[in-house]
This record gives sequence, C-alpha cells and structure tokens, in this order.
Amino acid sequence: MADLNELSEKLSAIKSEIRSELDRLGSSKSVFEYKKTIFDSKTGKVGSLMREMGKIPAELRAEYGKKVNEVKTWAQGLFDEMDEKFKREEMRLRYEAEKIDVTMPAKMHKQGYLHPNTLIREQIVDIFGSMGFQIYEGTEIETDYYNFTALNTPDDHPARDMQDTFYLSDKFLLRTQTSAGQIHVMEKQSPPIKIISPGKVFRSDDDATHSPMFSQMEGLVVDKGITLCDLKGMLDVFVKKIFGEDVSTRLRPSYFPFTEPSVEVDVSCFQCHGRGCKLCKGTGWIEVLGAGVVNSKVLKGCGIDPDEYSGFAFGIGIERIAMLKYGINNIKLLFESDLRVLEQIRE
Ligand code: DAH
Repeated sequence: MADLNELSEKLSAIKSEIRSELDRLGSSKSVFEYKKTIFDSKTGKVGSLMREMGKIPAELRAEYGKKVNEVKTWAQGLFDEMDEKFKREEMRLRYEAEKIDVTMPAKMHKQGYLHPNTLIREQIVDIFGSMGFQIYEGTEIETDYYNFTALNTPDDHPARDMQDTFYLSDKFLLRTQTSAGQIHVMEKQSPPIKIISPGKVFRSDDDATHSPMFSQMEGLVVDKGITLCDLKGMLDVFVKKIFGEDVSTRLRPSYFPFTEPSVEVDVSCFQCHGRGCKLCKGTGWIEVLGAGVVNSKVLKGCGIDPDEYSGFAFGIGIERIAMLKYGINNIKLLFESDLRVLEQIRE
C-alpha cells in the first residue's frame, strides 16, 4: 500500500500545481500547451503515471488506475472549462475587432465622362455610320500635294492663304484639313465611295474661336448621279439628329477650290428658333459647315471620270459643333481639361 500512498501524495501535489497554474493561464492556446505537460503519455505528469501502470503490482493496479483516472477526469474537466471560457472571450474580441458597420456610406468612385469633342465625334460617326458611310482615317502629316495641289489648290493659288500652314519641310506639312483624305480614298477606291474621315488638323491660328489644333470630320460621296440635292437632304438629317428635330438647313454660295459649286451650310438657330438671339447674332441662322459638289478637276486628278461620276463633299469642325451645342464660348475650354467645365457636359 506504500505505493498507493505515494501515488496519492503525488496526485494531490499535481492537483494543487494544476490549481495554481490555471490562474496563470491567459488564453486557450496556453491551456492547450499546459494540458500537454499534464497528459502527454511520455512527459506529462498524469500521462507518465498512466504509463507506469504496467509496473504496478497486479493486486494494486486497479486501485492505482482508478486514482490516476479520477485526477485525469478532474483535470480534463477543469481544462475544458478554461478552454471554453477563453475561447468565448477570444471570439468576442475577434468579433469586436472585425466588426463591420453596415450603415457606413460606401466609398465614392468618381466616374469619368466622355470629353465634349469625343461626344460630338461619336455622335457624328453614329449618324453617318447609320447612313452607310465608312470611316477612313488619314494621317496628320501630309504632303503638300495631298493637302493642297490635288485639291485644286496649286502653289500660287490664293486659297492657300486661307489656311496658315505649319510646314515641316518643302514637301511635308501638318494637314490643315481632313479634305486631304478625300484624295487618298479616291486614288485607292473606285466609286461608289461613301466615307467620313475624322481627325486632327493644324493651322497657325489662335483666338477665342480658333485653335492651332482642332478636329474636323470630312465627308465624301462619289457615285453616278450625285447632286447637291443629295447633299442637302443628307445634311438635313444630320443637323436634326445633332441639334433637334425642329431645325432646318439653308445653303449659301461660297468658295472652296475643291468643290464647284461650293456652299456654306447654315442651320436655323436652335436656341431662338429663327427669332434672332445672341447665339445667331440676330440672324436666325448659324453657320455649321462647308460643303459642295466635288470639283471635276479633283475627280479627274484621282482617275475618276467626271462624265460618269459626280460627288459631294463636306467638312465639319467638331469643336465648332461642340461649342454651339453645349454653349461653350471659347475653344480653349475644350483643350484645357478643366473639370469644372467638362463636368457640366454630359449626355
Ligand atoms: N476643308 C475645308 C476647311 O477646312 C472644309 C470643307 C469645305 C471641306 C467644303 C469639304 C468641302 O469637303 O466640300 O475649311
């Protein structure tokens, strides 16, 4: 029985050690770690007692096992209780730390908008696209030939003075008009031709309504039997789609070397509906673009027989349309990227 007495002493020492140790534990992890030092079958204080059971004389073994098991069950109960308490607290702290305020307003993402020039360009492309026009994109650097000569504007032609050109060399220049694209298309393609050509153009010109760089949209139709009437009908559709169903167009005689006859196209004032206001300078009409019947010399120069084919062409200033439509009085506002201005224009 000496062994069992010794065991009882050992067990009560273990119990009091566990009691005092439990006060020092502060987390479920420390409970887990401490539990190992008690229950591990090799190194644990209770675990090793269980292991030694084999060495206990057979007649004492049952009593030995019972005593050790009692302590084991008691300790397990304590550990479970501690573990549960710590886990509950740890969960509470975690929920506290990860709390989501579902009523908090979401982060605002600023949305971008299309630039007025882009808006107008896309509208024009859509309108003519729906009429079956294809897009031709020319180059910003052109030769003197395509920008002037082939457009019936030879060297000494006074029309060259109409456009102050940025020359890059004797031969190359920054195109002053998307009209240059007409020649490229007519050289490459035989009629029927139906294209629009958007792009940047450059002129040494700078005031409230002119900028050294601006954008144009060229249009060209060449086929059998094309007349000025076709141009007028098509432009009527165009201005109604851009400015509203209640506007109409009128053609005024003008001059461009590459068209004969040439016209300026006016749209009835969409602000005052013809009564006369500041926008239309009291006239009831606003000039929107230049156009005309393609000059037979131009057709001939591109290898198209003017006795068989005829055509019309037009050139639209994109910034001009944007300024008119959105009430912008200085072209610079379209290039300065001032959000206070741009944010006002949305479609
Ligand atoms: N290229 C002319 C300009 O920049 C605009 C223009 C007028 C284009 C008449 C045309 C046209 O195609 O037929 O002033």
